[in-house]
Amino acid sequence: MTRQRLGVCYYPEHWPEWRWTQDAARMKEIGLGLVRIGEFAWSRLEPSPGAYAFEWLSRAIDVLHGAGLDVVLGAPTATAPKWLVDRMPDMIPLDAQGRPRKFGSRRHYCFSHEGYARECDRIVTRLAEAFGTHPGVVAWQTDNEYGCHDTVESYSPAARDAFRHWCAQKYGSIDALNAAWGNVFWSMELRGFDEIEPPNLTVTEANPSHRLDFQRFSSDQVAAFNRRQTEIIRRHAPGRAILHNFMGSFTAFDHYKVSQDLDAAAWDSYPLGFLERSPRSNAFKARYMRVGDPDYQAFHHDLYRACGRGRWWVMEQQPGPVNWAPWNPAPAQGAVRLWTHEAFACGAETVSFFRWRQAPFAQEQMHEALLLPDSQPNEAFHVVASVARELETLDAHVATARAPVALVFDYESDWAWTIQPQGRDFSYFELVLDIYRALRRAGLSIDIAPPTAEGVRDRRLVLAPGLFCANDDLVEALRNSGAVVLLGPRSGSRTPDFHIPANLPPGAFQELVDLKIRRVESLRPGATIAMKDEKLGAFEKWREFALIGEDAAVALETADGEAALTQSGRFFYLSGWPDETLADHIVRRLCQMAGIGTMLLPRDIRVRDNGDLRYVFNYGDVAADISAIADGRSPLLGESLLSPCGVAVFKNAT
Ligand code: GAL
Repeated sequence: MTRQRLGVCYYPEHWPEWRWTQDAARMKEIGLGLVRIGEFAWSRLEPSPGAYAFEWLSRAIDVLHGAGLDVVLGAPTATAPKWLVDRMPDMIPLDAQGRPRKFGSRRHYCFSHEGYARECDRIVTRLAEAFGTHPGVVAWQTDNEYGCHDTVESYSPAARDAFRHWCAQKYGSIDALNAAWGNVFWSMELRGFDEIEPPNLTVTEANPSHRLDFQRFSSDQVAAFNRRQTEIIRRHAPGRAILHNFMGSFTAFDHYKVSQDLDAAAWDSYPLGFLERSPRSNAFKARYMRVGDPDYQAFHHDLYRACGRGRWWVMEQQPGPVNWAPWNPAPAQGAVRLWTHEAFACGAETVSFFRWRQAPFAQEQMHEALLLPDSQPNEAFHVVASVARELETLDAHVATARAPVALVFDYESDWAWTIQPQGRDFSYFELVLDIYRALRRAGLSIDIAPPTAEGVRDRRLVLAPGLFCANDDLVEALRNSGAVVLLGPRSGSRTPDFHIPANLPPGAFQELVDLKIRRVESLRPGATIAMKDEKLGAFEKWREFALIGEDAAVALETADGEAALTQSGRFFYLSGWPDETLADHIVRRLCQMAGIGTMLLPRDIRVRDNGDLRYVFNYGDVAADISAIADGRSPLLGESLLSPCGVAVFKNAT
């Protein structure tokens, strides 16, 4: 069994070499086991073309390894040096306005530029040859945060040509593409693949089928770029785990697909920055500004666990105020500890902090670290040390139990409804997150799953809101699963080509729930559609009008006499975006039918079961009595009166 580990992100190239030994010793002393280095160091590794300078990195790895720390080595391909850009100016991506994204920060490359990809092959090969079998290098990170700063899509000539090729591979004939895209509409028909342009700078909206294919193409380019690195590293670094650090609320490429080439997924968790950036209300942000959204981190932990097929890390954990959100508050006392334990509760193998020492120069001066720029400990330094001690006493091992509840998350659906929201605030991501919140409020531990037969196998409850397209395998798997299933709103309402299905929405899902959607409406903020029984809540943002078939019954009705929830046996279709009250009602009702126990939790308490441990977290600012949640289990950590930001861990009586 693997032990849970703490790590830190470190930039030896930022500090004089005499500091490295001291730094390494202090890292070890406070219980860190792992150090990520190297991911932005290209200009120091190859100061001019072909002149490699790996000696310093070799010494840095030796110092860390010598201190008993394991190293995660990052491929520096997110930061091409200036000489490379000058040699190859067309590697620069063009944004949707057709403007070049210049050198001077990071991620200034186009995923479709073959010349740049070869340069990456070259530097990654050299690094992997040099350090692949070094006993101190236990894992590798490809690139850094693919897509950060809006860099998945590029509208460069290289991207256009690659997109034409991608379309030719997919469709075979231009007639097939014209039919799939519906190009007869507005005389958009093309005579050959060489007439295809990227879908930017059109007078009004571009064709949604065209846009969806461009997004699929852009996503495939990320996967292909990543695969080149993983193949090289695998060849030279046998037995080492290969990861990539993904982001929060980021959907511009299919993370399941990119993860197929990785051994484990990782993500960078900045709870306070993400909250400030989120579309939540000001009241919500004020309430949780120092502890973060109670469900957001766990949602991503569960999502990336699915991407990593059970194996995942937090590669970067917020230690204090960051520099990049609209406002950057400091965490409450205890918040960093809570985030760390919650990641482990959700099955993380490693939680690694960003970063060791605050940088007194360049872009991230305002980003806190474990140490101040003068090397004195800052708050998170002490937090890490005490969490390390707690993990020791817990004898903490990685556990990831399969949950009976699966919430389907699908990247294409997010692209589809971003392309065609129909209401300004319709966000697939937020819809799925809202359902997730309701499941968490009911005390459930959840798996997020891709829309595949494997994802829904052996579940008791499956929820697939907003899933834009029904695939036959999924329909078949759901039919055979025995699970209670919730579909809608918008589930199955488009074909893969982005057409309305011939049999009307929800398309092939009609085989599960006998209804057709004849009309949809989006609702401005504040407009709601109450349920007939008003205390059950209301729809907001979105609602649909259904024609109910013979094999279905209305399970819940709106005040204006339409079906809100339609049922055919154990299959349900929800005809709108539920507010909090309605989401809670539906989740509890479906759980009851599925034989899944739910809890009545104090407002800011969240629970996570994993293996034989039950974790309880207090996201609120008052102490909460959790003795009922402990349910007779014996406490390993924390008390039954759980303080603000408190963490309790209980062990099953067995
Ligand atoms: C991440 C990134 C790091 C650093 C950090 C600051 O997005 O991977 O390199 O910039 O944010 O919070």
